[in-house]
Amino acid sequence: MRVRVLPDEASAVALVADRLCEILAAKPDSVLGLATGGTMEPLYAELVTRFRSGHVSFAQAKSFNLDEYVGMGPDHPQSYHHFMQRRFFDHVDFQPGANHLPDGASPDPAQAADAYEASIRDAGGIDLQILGIGRNGHIGFNEPHGSLCSRTRVETLAPSTREANQRFFSEDQTPPRQAVTVGLATIMDARRVILLATGQDKNWAVHAALEGPVSTRTPASVLQTHPDATIVLDRMAASALEFEDRHALA
Ligand code: F6R
Repeated sequence: MRVRVLPDEASAVALVADRLCEILAAKPDSVLGLATGGTMEPLYAELVTRFRSGHVSFAQAKSFNLDEYVGMGPDHPQSYHHFMQRRFFDHVDFQPGANHLPDGASPDPAQAADAYEASIRDAGGIDLQILGIGRNGHIGFNEPHGSLCSRTRVETLAPSTREANQRFFSEDQTPPRQAVTVGLATIMDARRVILLATGQDKNWAVHAALEGPVSTRTPASVLQTHPDATIVLDRMAASALEFEDRHALA
């Protein structure tokens, strides 16, 4: 696992965008694993800027997002389908049908999860998986104390995750209790993984994931055993690392 600590959010985001663009330049038909959430908003904005200035094309790429809330159709303003469409897909040149998210609105979400796992396999697996991290150490919606070898499935969200995501919902709405999420084993199958974490509120999770034991208590800690994982942090997200000198500023 490589760790890069950047001075601020903008430079951390730029480093992840650089890597993604390099990978697409080397393999234009890459299969990208994508995440949503606040951390990803500046990354998608940066990629849209680079696309508009002709520095990257997604025309041959495919994407698979990590998760979607159960019970939310693609048109729901808080759905991850909607997030991805509005923040990214509408502004770049993916071909129609190239972008995939789990079907949270399916009458049988468990079956939809199995079908999603199969569609990732059929696409040849993920070349580059982009991840954020929850304050409780989750990746995707793989919450603490699940299985380290899980596949795409329906997961019940931890109260702390629903609380953290309340900021995306209006006062009279609460986040759904369940999501379909790609599993940890599916994430570990990705040929390359880049986790981006920014801001002080991620520092405990980053410390536990990078310096704690590999444990279901901190799902992101499983990345310690991935053969090609890069963790990109700003100073605030790195601020609880005990061995910060091992992770010199990039
Ligand atoms: C969402 C996802 C989650 C988020 C995590 C951090 O697709 O995969 O694991 O990355 O909850 O969310 P933010 O960036 O909003 O703090």
